[in-house]
Amino acid sequence: MRIEDFELERFFAKYEFAVRHLLCASDVEGWPMADLLALADAETRALWDGLTLGYTEAPGHPLLRAEIAKLYSTIAPEQVVVFSGAEEAIFTVANVALEPGDHAIVVWPAYQSLHAVARAAGADVSLHELHASEGWALDPDALRRLVTPRTRLIVVNAPHNPTGSLPTAAAYRAVSDIAAEAGATFMSDEVYRFLESDPAIRLPAGADTGVHGASVGVMSKSFAMAGLRIGWLATRDQALLDKAMRFKDYTTICASAPAEILSLIALRSRDRVLARSRAIVDANMRLLDAFFERQAGRFRWVRPVAGSIGFPELTADIPIDQFAQELLAAEGVLLAPASLFGHPGNHFRLGFGRPSLPAGLERLEAYADRTLR
Ligand SMILES: Cc1ncc(COP(=O)(O)O)c(C=O)c1O
Repeated sequence: MRIEDFELERFFAKYEFAVRHLLCASDVEGWPMADLLALADAETRALWDGLTLGYTEAPGHPLLRAEIAKLYSTIAPEQVVVFSGAEEAIFTVANVALEPGDHAIVVWPAYQSLHAVARAAGADVSLHELHASEGWALDPDALRRLVTPRTRLIVVNAPHNPTGSLPTAAAYRAVSDIAAEAGATFMSDEVYRFLESDPAIRLPAGADTGVHGASVGVMSKSFAMAGLRIGWLATRDQALLDKAMRFKDYTTICASAPAEILSLIALRSRDRVLARSRAIVDANMRLLDAFFERQAGRFRWVRPVAGSIGFPELTADIPIDQFAQELLAAEGVLLAPASLFGHPGNHFRLGFGRPSLPAGLERLEAYADRTLR
């Protein structure tokens, strides 16, 4: 298999653990292990204390699958497969849903694996482009025009990376229906789900929109536990589940035993886990609202409504790649320029899931005040 470099991940490999101010991470600040264990109930505490480090059940620990199934309204525990991160679930779905010569439609800009893996699997990929001028809105009519007789996979990401936008329920439903009509899998990457600014705008899960729906979830983002490397696929499509299990025999076989139990503990206390994430994001959004108001002549954004990231635009007369590089050298602040997403705009990804944001934002603003007109 030949696959293109994952630009954003190569960028993080170079900078993530080396910079002073990480202002572009997409996850929420990781939970301290001791705090998580303090949430265990009697059953999960016993599972943790008595854990042996053997192989685990290939589709995932039965109790974990049951807990994940509760995040959906139509999914049974047997319709959940646990993977090592959302990344493995995406890799698997693209590889088993697509044959060489098939066609996939992927919302864009996007987390690169959503389109790169489909292409590497031999599919033709059409990108459904979202535009800042339209509030990064999904356009079902435009997306429908991309469908071909070979379309077998339609991929959305809601809440969306990198923009923090969320389609309307009607648009989301319409795209699921387009996939159903085309006989395609509707893969919905929902790794930022449950981190909506208002629970009232939360979309139905992709898996709950129809048998052709396939939700990808993860502990990394809204649940703030990226180090667990636990993700999942939830779908009522039995054929897709079967193929995914057969494929997984060649990737990881089964998930990490400690990570499964820790994920179970977290999901059983999900209200508390999510409240912590929401509190971090809300506090940072208040600072960012003030920042974008003060810096209106230099930066603007479509205010994110969900998730822990946004995709602002540098409107000052300097290319974002140059600005980001000079900012990093001068202040140790890391932004992720749009070029990492293959996007031509003067945008950059901003992450606001970390309590350390205020210090980095202060450095960014001081630098902008010093160097931009
Ligand atoms: C939209 C999206 N999908 C999938 C992933 C992969 O998640 P994980 O690294 O937890 O596997 C990410 C990570 O940034 C993401 O933003």
